[in-house]
Amino acid sequence: MAARVPFIAGNWKMNPTSVEEAISLAKAIADGKGSSKAQVAICTPHPFLAACKPHLDKGGIDLGAQACYFEQKGAYTGATSTSMIRSVGAKHVIVGHSERRTVFHQTDEMVNQIIHKVLADNMLPILCVGETKEEYESGLNTQICAIQLAKGLKGVSKEDAKKVTIAYEPVWAIGTGLVCDASVAQDVHKFIRGWLANMYDQETADTIRIQYGGSVTPDSVDELMSKPDIDGCLVGGASLDPAKFTRIMNFK
Ligand code: G3P
Repeated sequence: MAARVPFIAGNWKMNPTSVEEAISLAKAIADGKGSSKAQVAICTPHPFLAACKPHLDKGGIDLGAQACYFEQKGAYTGATSTSMIRSVGAKHVIVGHSERRTVFHQTDEMVNQIIHKVLADNMLPILCVGETKEEYESGLNTQICAIQLAKGLKGVSKEDAKKVTIAYEPVWAIGTGLVCDASVAQDVHKFIRGWLANMYDQETADTIRIQYGGSVTPDSVDELMSKPDIDGCLVGGASLDPAKFTRIMNFK
């Protein structure tokens, strides 16, 4: 079994506020990629995808989108399709981020439809799963992940599953500065890998990369990445700071 290539992705969320800022940030991050041993992606807001693409390309950084709709075209005001995203050079799409699930009322069923559409359009989904604070405190973190994985990956073949990255993002750690303890995160990642082995087989489970997301910083990335089942990070706030994201890309 070949070692999994580490995968670090930045999720800018609804930032920055102008295309000029976005290009400047993309350039600074591209300059920082250096000799990182990771595959790196930056997921920009939709309006900035095309403008950032050439600058990210210069640093060997993949372009990603943060969300999309599952229909191809039509009367879906404000929605963005996979073909639109692919046409501007995006390679990855974040699917089922907790903020899409809570703020925009995205259901597990919609997540599954989007996963299938992203795969059908030859892009690579990053499927987000993770528990709320209340679920964590009730000891339900792995059960919640299992439910979201089962619903999100419903009908996804073994071969297609290998194209999916799973991002474990405990909701209580997102944007709070409360990074999940690396050992606790490793336990959940190990559970997820076991779930994937049962759903598919061990070879598939060993192929799929599992990112951790939730207040990742330069201070926490090295310990997180030292864990055997943590294959990368999905980074929010720190991806808006070129110096911090450069250190995260170049984890030790
Ligand atoms: O998708 C990654 C994001 O949810 C994590 O945000 O700011 O806690 O790194 P942040």
